[in-house]
Formats: sequence, structure tokens, C-alpha cells
Amino acid sequence: MELSETIYHLLINAGMSLIGFLICLNIIPKFSEMFMRANLSGMDLSKKSKIRIPEAMGVICGAVFLVIMFLFIPVPFYKHLADPTNAKFPHHEYIEYIAALLSICCMIFLGFADDVLALKWRHKLWLPTMASLPLLMVYFVNFNSTIIIVPKPFRALFGFDVNLGLFYYLYMGMLAVFCTNAINIFSGVNGLETGQSFIIAVSVLIFNFLELLGDCRAAHVFSAYFMLPYTAVCAALLYHNWYPSRVFVGDTFCYFSGMTFAVVAILGHFSKTMLLFFLPQVANFVYSLPQLFRFIHCPRHRLPQYDPKNDKVGMSFTRFKTSELKPLGYLCLRVFNLFGVVHIRERVGEDGAYTECNNLTLICLVLKFLGPLHERTLVIVLLSLQVMCSCVAFGIRYQLAKMFYDV
Ligand code: UD1
Ligand code: MG
Repeated sequence: MELSETIYHLLINAGMSLIGFLICLNIIPKFSEMFMRANLSGMDLSKKSKIRIPEAMGVICGAVFLVIMFLFIPVPFYKHLADPTNAKFPHHEYIEYIAALLSICCMIFLGFADDVLALKWRHKLWLPTMASLPLLMVYFVNFNSTIIIVPKPFRALFGFDVNLGLFYYLYMGMLAVFCTNAINIFSGVNGLETGQSFIIAVSVLIFNFLELLGDCRAAHVFSAYFMLPYTAVCAALLYHNWYPSRVFVGDTFCYFSGMTFAVVAILGHFSKTMLLFFLPQVANFVYSLPQLFRFIHCPRHRLPQYDPKNDKVGMSFTRFKTSELKPLGYLCLRVFNLFGVVHIRERVGEDGAYTECNNLTLICLVLKFLGPLHERTLVIVLLSLQVMCSCVAFGIRYQLAKMFYDV
């Protein structure tokens, strides 16, 4: 496709996204009351007045996103639609759109089910795997390229490329599970879910535009078609979710976001770069592992502790019986302690039989180093970190990668 034609399609997509942004911005407050009536609400735990606000608002964004995408699909194909013989219709490309939207749509539905029914953690892990199957099927039919280029230092050992076969599909399935859950567990501060997603989406868009003149233009245009409307609806939700939140986004939004990122990364062939944009989420996930695998007690909420006296949030702690600490939990605490990244209080509670440590989240870690902060300041610090990580990601992608690959 000509570059001018591509830009023309992107401009149409951007125009539709702008309309989507304005629609979302307007209808979210209007739906708030309806959500409250349906009992879809949550309590803002870091506020003096414990009022309930509407939850699962991500479903509105997801719906607007899908409508934009459905209306946009004919645009890149209109030339072929006008041809009565349909001889050159790019079925391969078309099926990619449909499968990508099916996976995202499925994930919005499952996320909403989670918000309404409060599903268990084991379900949360299976849902994205199932939702990514249509996508993997299309990948299999369209590309089925499971060969990866080996980084230069390892070529003497493995050769120039390695065919990962089934493992590559496993990796892509796991990417969908990771993206959806990683955003969901890096949350609990007003504006953080939407803020991080917005920054990742803008980073992906910048990357797509930088690559428009490269060899893989089609893949990056495909990604931008999804990312522009996504960024628009996410920005509108961020506006309402920013401190002090008028709405909560719910797991619907986290799943919708994660799946959209996974879809563009898989079909756009840039999963490694996408993981670089997820650096804070990867760090938060790795740091959380002892609690996620229950080596250390994991409370229902790990969000920071609110102190109404000074209207600030500080580290939150988890308490467990010292004698019941699993050996692996003990080992993790010792290792984290060695690196100075955990705050442990020993011999607390009645007869000193309990131990406390800060909840193992990046949010608590930041609070450990900076001390208690106002919730708005905290979210600004965390989002600045996300922006910094995006800059590092671009540095790695465009500079460091030269040392490892022939780019
Ligand atoms: C995940 C986290 C949990 C965190 C929660 C809230 C893990 C394993 N799970 O659980 O630690 O506490 O998200 O994000 O890490 N809320 C606020 N302020 C906010 C956002 C949320 O008070 O800015 C509260 C509200 O009560 C809201 C609830 O969190 O109703 C939403 O929690 P939910 O999404 O159901 O928690 P999980 O995703 O299961
Ligand atoms: Mg959640």
C-alpha cells in the first residue's frame, strides 16, 4: 500500500478516535447513576469519606472502542469492496482484524463477568488464555512463523535462528495472560490503571509511527489502527478516573487494555518491544511473585495504607504467623532484605508470634523509599516512572539492540 494511502486511512482512524474520545468523555458521567443502581460500585479506600463510586466503567470504553473499530473496518478495504469480482480481496488481512476484535471483545465480556461475579484467581488466569485462542489460530494460518533470531552473543551456541515451534504459541498465550493481569495488579491508586495504559499506548503509537517507513509497515499500520481508538477512549476514562476518582475502571478495563496490547504485539510482531514498554509491570509482577504464589500471605487488597490524619498514603503491610511462614517465603524475604527492598517488622502481635512485611508491590516499594505521599503525588511519581521506562525501552530498542541484532 502507498504511504499516502496509509496516511489517509490513519487520518480517518484518528478522526473517528477523536469522536470516540468526545463520546466517552460525555457518556461516562451519564452512565454513572445507572451503574450505581445496578450495584456496580466500589469504595474508594484511600479517602476520608468512604463513599462508593461506580465501578467497571471500562466496559463503556470497550464498547465505544468496538463500535469505532467495526465502523472503521471497511476503510482499509473499500477499494476491494467496490470491485464486484472481489478477486483481490485480502482475506488474510481481513481475518486478522476480525480475530483481533474477537479476542478483545471476548476479554471485555470476561472482564465484565469478573466485575459482576468477582471470579477466583485461577479463573482469571484461564480467561485470557481462552480469549487469545482465536488470535493464535489466525497467527497459525497466516504466518505460522515460530522462528526467532538468536542474539549475536549466543549465535555460536544456537546458530542464527531457532525454531521454537509449539513453545512460541505458548509464549504468545502467556503474553496475553501476562498483559491482562500485570495491569490489574499494578493498581489501587486513583488514575494508575488508566494512566499506565495511556502511557504504554502512546509509546506503542510513537513506535508504530517511527516504523512506518520501515520494512514492516503493514504490521505497524495494523497496530496503529487499534492503538489510536484505544488511546482515545483510555484518555477519556483517565480524565474521570484521575484523582479524586469519579469512577473506577474495574477489571473490565484492565483485561480490555491487556488484551489490546497483546493483540497488537502478537500480530504486529513486536512482542519483545511491547514487554519493554511493560517494564514497571514486569518489575511489579516479579516483586509480587512470593505473594501471588502464596509463599507469603497475600491479603485481598494490597493497595497502600491511607492515613486520614495527614491525608497521605504509606506502605501497607501483610501480617502472618512467623511459625507458618513457608521456607520459600522465608528465603524470598531474606533475599529481598539483603537488597534492602523490603521492610520487615519482626515479633509483633500477641506474644510476638507474628511477622509483618510490606505488601510486595512496586507502589509500596516506591513508598518505602519516598515515605508517605499524597495519593495524587504518588500517582504522578508512578506515572513518571512509567514514562522514564518508556524512554529506556526506546533506548534499548534502537541503540542497545544493535549490539545484539543486525538492525
Ligand atoms: C488487584 C490487586 C489488589 C488491589 C486491587 C485494587 C493483587 C494480587 N491484586 O485486585 O492488591 O488492592 O487490585 O486495585 O495485587 N480501589 C481503590 N482505589 C483505586 C482503585 C481501586 O480504593 O484507585 C479499590 C476499590 O475499593 C475498588 C477495588 O479496589 O472497588 C477494586 O479492586 P479489584 O479490581 O476488585 O481487585 P483485584 O483486581 O482483584
Ligand atoms: Mg482489579
